[in-house]
Amino acid sequence: MAYQTITVEIEDYVALIRLNRPEALNALNSQLVGELAGALSEADRNDKVRCIVLTGSEKAFAAGADIKEMAGKTYVEAYTGDLFGADFDRITATRKPVIAAVSGYALGGGCELAMACDFIICADNAKFGQPEINLGVMAGIGGTQRLTRFVGKSKAMDMHLTGRFMDAAEAERSGLVSRVVPATKLVAEALAVAKKIAEKSQIALLAAKEAVNRAYETTLREGLLSERRSFQALFATEDQKEGMAAFLEKREPQFRDR
Ligand code: CAA
Repeated sequence: MAYQTITVEIEDYVALIRLNRPEALNALNSQLVGELAGALSEADRNDKVRCIVLTGSEKAFAAGADIKEMAGKTYVEAYTGDLFGADFDRITATRKPVIAAVSGYALGGGCELAMACDFIICADNAKFGQPEINLGVMAGIGGTQRLTRFVGKSKAMDMHLTGRFMDAAEAERSGLVSRVVPATKLVAEALAVAKKIAEKSQIALLAAKEAVNRAYETTLREGLLSERRSFQALFATEDQKEGMAAFLEKREPQFRDR
């Protein structure tokens, strides 16, 4: 499939998806969001993909929703056109693991896109922010919900109400990102992490991702029960037998996704 606003490369069971609108610092317009949703569902269906890395350029992961495209919209157009609704839901419906590799600006919708991935590895030059308040609006693709769950109410309020940016060190301290690496090594590091993930049992990966996401979507009691059932269900797989046998026999496991 040919895309105009993103590029996709697949190697060693990892899909590297790059946002590619350098002239607009990868601002998310409807074409980019549609193409990204399409690429992620294709990656989900592709047997040659077991993990996905989503990145931008060194200057910007994405500087937000495309302000030029949005500026003239009326409420009726935003509502009836479901602005950042269904296509973004398709992005978050990706079942395979997705790592956001963030360098430079991740602002507004860019920060929200990174948070919609499974975890974020960022470069030491990364800047996160929800500056929508400076445009007379507010976050609209999950920022008020996801940022609050990542960093807590106080810092999330601070970010959303002042529109200030958070640097990489603060993002790591606050739990927004899992690791910070030098900017020049970001993509290589994210691909190395993705390759490690791609070696695991895919059944166990999908189940673990689903279970962690449940922590956000349900009560602790329901989440614990669901986790327990998924954990128990994995004993029906050959990969569980192989993984545990390999540990006991002091060798590397050979997972076969069965
Ligand atoms: N939408 C459209 N175009 C954008 C853009 C955006 N979000 N962000 C940057 N651009 C464009 C600029 O207009 C500029 O294009 P021109 O050369 O044609 O003028 C080009 O990208 C380069 O940007 P700058 O010249 O501004 O670069 P800079 O280095 O001086 O500043 C920046 C970088 C601080 C990121 C600045 O571009 C900026 O503040 N961008 C907007 C950030 C923002 O407000 N994001 C929130 C958007 S709203 C949103 O996301 C809503 C939501 O939750 C759904």
